[in-house]
Amino acid sequence: MQHRIVVTGASSGIGAATVRRFAELGWRTVAVARRADRLAELADETGTHPIVCDVTDERQVAALAAEVAETGGATGLVNNAGGALGTDSVEASSNDDWRQMFEVNVIGLRTVTAALLPILRDGARRTGWASILNLTSTAGHAAYPGGAGYNAAKFAAHAVTDVLRLELAGEPIRVMELAPGLVHTEEFTLKRLRGDAAAAAKPYEDVIPLTAEEVAGVLVGAFEQPPHVNQDLIVLRPVAQSSVFHTHRGPLLPRGGE
Ligand SMILES: NC(=O)c1ccc[n+]([C@@H]2O[C@H](COP(=O)([O-])OP(=O)(O)OC[C@H]3O[C@@H](n4cnc5c(N)ncnc54)[C@H](OP(=O)(O)O)[C@@H]3O)[C@@H](O)[C@H]2O)c1
Repeated sequence: MQHRIVVTGASSGIGAATVRRFAELGWRTVAVARRADRLAELADETGTHPIVCDVTDERQVAALAAEVAETGGATGLVNNAGGALGTDSVEASSNDDWRQMFEVNVIGLRTVTAALLPILRDGARRTGWASILNLTSTAGHAAYPGGAGYNAAKFAAHAVTDVLRLELAGEPIRVMELAPGLVHTEEFTLKRLRGDAAAAAKPYEDVIPLTAEEVAGVLVGAFEQPPHVNQDLIVLRPVAQSSVFHTHRGPLLPRGGE
């Protein structure tokens, strides 16, 4: 059984780590993002099939679907392309930021999913099953001050995941959601804070966050489960982060004892 998984947002962070992890296990992938140079490097390293595509552009997504179909189809989709812009309040934030966050985290996810569903169904006919996994966030499950537009977009992505699972009931297509907490990737916070490197380093100070590789390990593990096993929602946090409001800084030590 030869599976082939389309991973969006594969040019950095969790998406790139996911492509690497699938490759280590011998799964074929298609790596999607806007930066061609990074995808080319990943293709050299892992053998992934790179496709340059902006998931917010419907024509580019249609071309993506055509290329996926022509080059071997797909049995899986990881909607990982996404991100945050700013930490402003509802009152102070800009609609442009909100539009961009909704475009990539919600509408892009929907557009890619809709375009690839017929291809995933073909894959399920060939291999018996197909899978969709959406990367949301703990920000899609708990609001926090400064979350505002990112909270709203990831809550929406969570809702889309649930409604899609209901819509696909009766088909051999599982629909999963992975909601990570604090993950230290190179670009996520830097982009959110518009390139302010000092401020972007702060959330990761004196704490052990998740790495992209750790998230990818859990993500790929969900695909490795027997095909009838649907992990509806995986919430993944570092031990030091017990909620979006509670991040323990400093060493983690057992209480009591000596
Ligand atoms: N890091 C965290 O703490 C964290 C926690 C929870 C959830 N998440 C979520 O996990 C996902 C990956 O995050 P990450 O930390 O790996 O961030 P990242 O390194 O910034 O990765 C985001 C990826 O999305 C791609 N992308 C952005 N806009 C795109 C577009 N319009 N079309 C196609 N690709 C696009 C980027 O590539 P190009 O710029 O080359 O297009 C990049 O490969 C995101 O959905 C994020 O919201 C992150």
